[in-house]
Amino acid sequence: SFRFTLAIIKPDIFVKQPNNVKSIIEKIESRFIIHTSKQINLSIQDAEQFYHDHREKFFYERLISFMTRGPILPMVLEYKNNDQNNDTIKNWRDFIGPTHREKAKTMNCLRGEYGTSDTRNSFHGSGSEEEAKKEIVFFFPKFDFNNPKSN
Ligand code: CMP
Repeated sequence: SFRFTLAIIKPDIFVKQPNNVKSIIEKIESRFIIHTSKQINLSIQDAEQFYHDHREKFFYERLISFMTRGPILPMVLEYKNNDQNNDTIKNWRDFIGPTHREKAKTMNCLRGEYGTSDTRNSFHGSGSEEEAKKEIVFFFPKFDFNNPKSN
């Protein structure tokens, strides 16, 4: 379990559903602290670096062109709860739901509500503690893991 995760609101939201950004952020804030965030446009090189582990996948080209077609909002999240095993990675992944649209649609989750295809699935969440650390540093090199409130 890890205290933080790297979440992203993907370009399909900003390009096709800009009116939903505000209510999505409110939903996120009902359960997570957003320690830091910034709206940016990924370059192709940034996207290729971020998704390096997917470079052999059949959907890689689609993924890179999708992630560079509009703004994204990366955020460092922390799950709001009081117990000691604050597993933000799992809680965020449960909150967004599964990658694949057909499955997500059957569940109460953000991807089920906003996602429109297996590529345009609206949200990202780190898959492990190692990934979360790497991805947080990728977008927020100055993030202070020991004193997040200062960010
Ligand atoms: P995510 O699981 O966050 O990271 C990999 C991304 O690749 C995924 O979200 C989708 O945006 C995309 N992706 C995953 N599976 C497929 C697929 N079968 N077809 C197209 N895109 C996919």
